Amino acid sequence: MKHRYAVITGCSSGFGALMAIELAKIGFHIIATMRNTKKRAFLMDNAKREGIQEQITIHELDVTSSNSIEELKFHLKQLPSVDVLINNAGFAGAGFAEEIPLDEYRRQFETNVFGTIGVTQAVLPFMRTQRKGTIINISSISGRVAFPGLSPYAASKFAVEGWSESLRLEMKPFGVHVVLLEPGSFKTGIWTTGKQVTEKSLEKDSPYYPYMLKIQGYLDKNAPFYEEPIIVAKKAASIAMEDEPSLRYPVGKGVQTKINLKSLLRWKTWEKVILKTLYKN
Ligand SMILES: NC(=O)c1ccc[n+]([C@@H]2O[C@H](COP(=O)([O-])OP(=O)(O)OC[C@H]3O[C@@H](n4cnc5c(N)ncnc54)[C@H](OP(=O)(O)O)[C@@H]3O)[C@@H](O)[C@H]2O)c1
Repeated sequence: MKHRYAVITGCSSGFGALMAIELAKIGFHIIATMRNTKKRAFLMDNAKREGIQEQITIHELDVTSSNSIEELKFHLKQLPSVDVLINNAGFAGAGFAEEIPLDEYRRQFETNVFGTIGVTQAVLPFMRTQRKGTIINISSISGRVAFPGLSPYAASKFAVEGWSESLRLEMKPFGVHVVLLEPGSFKTGIWTTGKQVTEKSLEKDSPYYPYMLKIQGYLDKNAPFYEEPIIVAKKAASIAMEDEPSLRYPVGKGVQTKINLKSLLRWKTWEKVILKTLYKN
């Protein structure tokens, strides 16, 4: 069978590393990109355990750097095909909007939105000329439902959702499929190292401090029940094998229910439920 190649961003940890493993297990050759290749151990140790290390090539890529994306393009030219791209690299900006410096919003968009767009633009010429390919953008429940205290993250994922809908329609005539994978809450580094709360909302004299504490309390209470990230990695691998994938794949406990409720309930009812749940204690 012809070799298939998948490019994945943000493979140093979490979903990225696990997706690289799961796609390699079903036969893909993986260009596993990460901005700091010294962090390859988690991925490569797992790959060795599975006996698939030969199928993984580590490539340095910071999705916010145009030079880095140019180097990726050069590398991709050496491959016979680029069959799958998974735009996974991301982090979660948090805090209350009034207190978040504009530069923090910009940084959030540079990675989650412009990073996704830049890497996709690098891959599209290959897929378009092949008339084949699948692009999986890792969105989030936060791309469908926005919670307070997380506006940079939610805004970035809503942007990824809108951009992906347009791109899907643009690429359909060329046989290139664009997919949104929308996880709920999973046990990865995004809630610790990957979460960047603006300093002001953590200061006691902030008017938002009590609300921030309640949201943090709610998150802490629920964190032990977050699901295993392998579920998302396996879902990505099954999407990569589909000939005609759908646009959206919500994944995780209660994700589809929340999306349905938000569209069924009147907004005023929805916001009462959300605020009561978050601020009840
Ligand atoms: N975990 C969840 O519950 C959840 C739910 C919904 C969606 N997601 C999404 O899933 C994706 C992966 O996150 P995760 O949960 O697996 O968290 P994670 O373990 O923190 O992984 C994030 C990855 O993105 C990389 N990254 C960040 N900025 C980058 C940049 N500028 N260039 C290249 N790589 C960069 C990180 O690299 P470093 O190691 O160098 O920081 C890391 O490899 C994100 O898009 C996130 O929004 C996660």
